[in-house]
Amino acid sequence: MSEEVAYAHLKFPESRKTETVQELHRVGTKACPAHSHTWRQTAFTLTLICLLLLIGLGILGSIFYTTLKIETEKLNKLENFKEELQRNISLQLIANMNKSENIRNLSIALQDLATKLCRELNREEPGHKCKPCPNSWMWYKNNCYFLSETYQTWQEGEISCSAQNASLLQIEENSTLEFIKSKKLYSYWLGLPPKQDDKNSEEVDENIISSDKLKRNMDKMHCRYIYGTKFFYASCTEKYKVACEKKANSVKVESVITSEDTDGRI
Ligand SMILES: *[C@@H]1O[C@H](CO)[C@@H](O)[C@H](O)[C@H]1NC(C)=O
Ligand SMILES: *[C@@H]1O[C@H](CO)[C@@H](O)[C@H](O)[C@H]1NC(C)=O
Ligand SMILES: *[C@@H]1O[C@H](CO)[C@@H](O)[C@H](O)[C@H]1NC(C)=O
Ligand SMILES: *[C@@H]1O[C@H](CO)[C@@H](O)[C@H](O)[C@H]1NC(C)=O
Ligand SMILES: *[C@@H]1O[C@H](CO)[C@@H](O)[C@H](O)[C@H]1NC(C)=O
Repeated sequence: MSEEVAYAHLKFPESRKTETVQELHRVGTKACPAHSHTWRQTAFTLTLICLLLLIGLGILGSIFYTTLKIETEKLNKLENFKEELQRNISLQLIANMNKSENIRNLSIALQDLATKLCRELNREEPGHKCKPCPNSWMWYKNNCYFLSETYQTWQEGEISCSAQNASLLQIEENSTLEFIKSKKLYSYWLGLPPKQDDKNSEEVDENIISSDKLKRNMDKMHCRYIYGTKFFYASCTEKYKVACEKKANSVKVESVITSEDTDGRI
């Protein structure tokens, strides 16, 4: 802006010089001082207007520049705020995820603790109500076992176990094997599928689903029973003792904390 103003000032004496030249020229031909005076005034006014316009332009420019600067700063601040907010939100999300994982970990730890405590309580007082097995069932690792002293055929044993939502003793887990070894079981049916001794194959017909046929065939079938650390085959219609097995429920934390003893079930 200052440059432009200087230019206007410089231009003034220059235009005056041309004026003098023109005047000299006019003196030579036809002198007219009144006309020249008006012209000079007009030129001065025009220059003044020009100057004012330039100043106005300069002021407008500076206003525009300042406004632009302020707005840009505001925009930058807003941008920074947005970034900080996004950072805070993601930090919050991570912290929340951590919190829920912590809670999950804590509840797993609490469950483990309750189970351990319940085992201790049952050692002191068998049939404590925290026990996750029905009354008169044994709790070993994650399973419940029931040892019956009555002698039954393999099929009867299976039926009486399933009536209690259990199955004949399975040996699918190491813990069951450990249980069998620790209890020294003699003459108990095992829940393994019966085997045929005389035939390896039989015709597949509608009789296969008839229980009559199954019953008729049971005396030809051989089932396994456990005797100490060994198992033997016997005809499935013979009578042995029955051992049932089922999964233990999980220990209820509140059943460990409260001491009142009800029926030992949950
Ligand atoms: C972001 O978190 C910091 C520290 O917790 C806090 O001081 C700041 O105000 C938060 N920023 C926003 C934009 O919420
Ligand atoms: C998440 O939790 C663990 C254990 O409580 C802690 O050591 C870790 O600093 C936490 N991380 C965050 C991002 O909060
Ligand atoms: C939760 O437990 C798992 C496995 O034990 C572990 O890797 C993780 O760091 C734990 N988380 C917290 C937040 O403590
Ligand atoms: C066996 O399970 C069924 C359904 O799950 C239940 O209604 C029934 O009471 C259970 N019986 C025993 C003896 O636990
Ligand atoms: C069972 O125990 C044997 C030896 O004690 C071990 O080699 C095997 O991995 C165990 N199986 C399972 C499923 O834990």
